[in-house]
Amino acid sequence: MADNGKEKWQEPTGEMQKAGYGKFLRPNTPYDSFMEEQEIPIYRDIGVEKVQNLPRKMWKRLGGNASFIQLLGTEGLWGSYVVEVPGAGALNAEKHLYEEQYFVVEGRGTTEVWAEGSDKKHTFEWQQGSLFAIPMNATHRIVNATSSPALLLAGTTAPNIMNLFNNTDFIFNCPYTFTDRYKETADYYKPNEEIEPDPVRGLAMRQTNIIPDIVTCELPLDNRRSPGYRRIEPHMVGNSFYLWIGQHETGRYSKAHAHGSAAVLICVKGKGYTYTWPSTLGPTPWKDGKAEGVRRQDYEPVGMVSAAPMGGNWFHAHFGVSSEPLRLSAWFGPNAPGRERGRPGEKAIDYGAIEIKDGGTAIAYRDEDPFLRKEFEETLGKEGMKSKMPAEIYKPEA
Ligand SMILES: [Fe+2]
Repeated sequence: MADNGKEKWQEPTGEMQKAGYGKFLRPNTPYDSFMEEQEIPIYRDIGVEKVQNLPRKMWKRLGGNASFIQLLGTEGLWGSYVVEVPGAGALNAEKHLYEEQYFVVEGRGTTEVWAEGSDKKHTFEWQQGSLFAIPMNATHRIVNATSSPALLLAGTTAPNIMNLFNNTDFIFNCPYTFTDRYKETADYYKPNEEIEPDPVRGLAMRQTNIIPDIVTCELPLDNRRSPGYRRIEPHMVGNSFYLWIGQHETGRYSKAHAHGSAAVLICVKGKGYTYTWPSTLGPTPWKDGKAEGVRRQDYEPVGMVSAAPMGGNWFHAHFGVSSEPLRLSAWFGPNAPGRERGRPGEKAIDYGAIEIKDGGTAIAYRDEDPFLRKEFEETLGKEGMKSKMPAEIYKPEA
């Protein structure tokens, strides 16, 4: 063993002792260090009732008060932040080798997008409820159209890229233009309302780089998560960042289903709550005396919750308890269906929409923990409302 004055490696003595510390503290990833260097708050929890209430500090890089949001379970999978665009002001222009999309929490303004060195610039308008995406490495500048601040919620693949390259100079100062993703055509930021099948599961998809208002836009019938459930999957600027917008009708709630971390639900309309619990607790944790392992997050617009806040698969179900439907946008980073590990051509199923008895992970309403329905009906009752769940879905199968 060389003794060069440095700390010694943990060498075993004899054949029974193991090398190394055995236990250690997880180190920062490059993205964790990047966030810390920005000197703005980093919010880490299973969710947040309203992102508007998160404390913000001046983020010098962008020129607006901001906070990172890294919900539990999403670490390394995708990144998020909320940023305020100063009244009658603008954020600093930037470009980067990661994908980015914005949901407008409050305010009204415009975004300018251009390719480095080009004199052609796209300028498009946004308002509260708009969702728009920035093409990879295109320069963009966000401008407030009013004298009061605007608030934007961003989703990015910054952790993925930073943790791979570990070089922010390369990520923020690369001259490459992704002409496969970014087009200078006049209609690039014109909303596209055409619905087509997504390439993996045949669900309703829109290829559009902006949706003017995801709070009120039409959603096609889907029925996968609750009776009458509506859903669209926007594919934006060639990004691999996967997201959807879904809605549970008033007085209804989603079936619980299980999967691993990545999904974050963002409440954009109505109000409600999510229960999430490790699938190792089984489908009926209250009945089985394991309720202390269940986590709950309440939310209203614009709240967030991590569907699977720790390792392994977690069951989760979402409950709308206001007179409006519960509309959620779910963001996953580049962790999309069809990108799970496996061999091309392998048989896969839409497990989250398929009940356990048929090989999926969804708990049929008739098999769910009775606590969920009881509490839901009581909560609605306090608001003077009634459950609109069809009675037959709770009946045992004939
Ligand atoms: Fe889910």
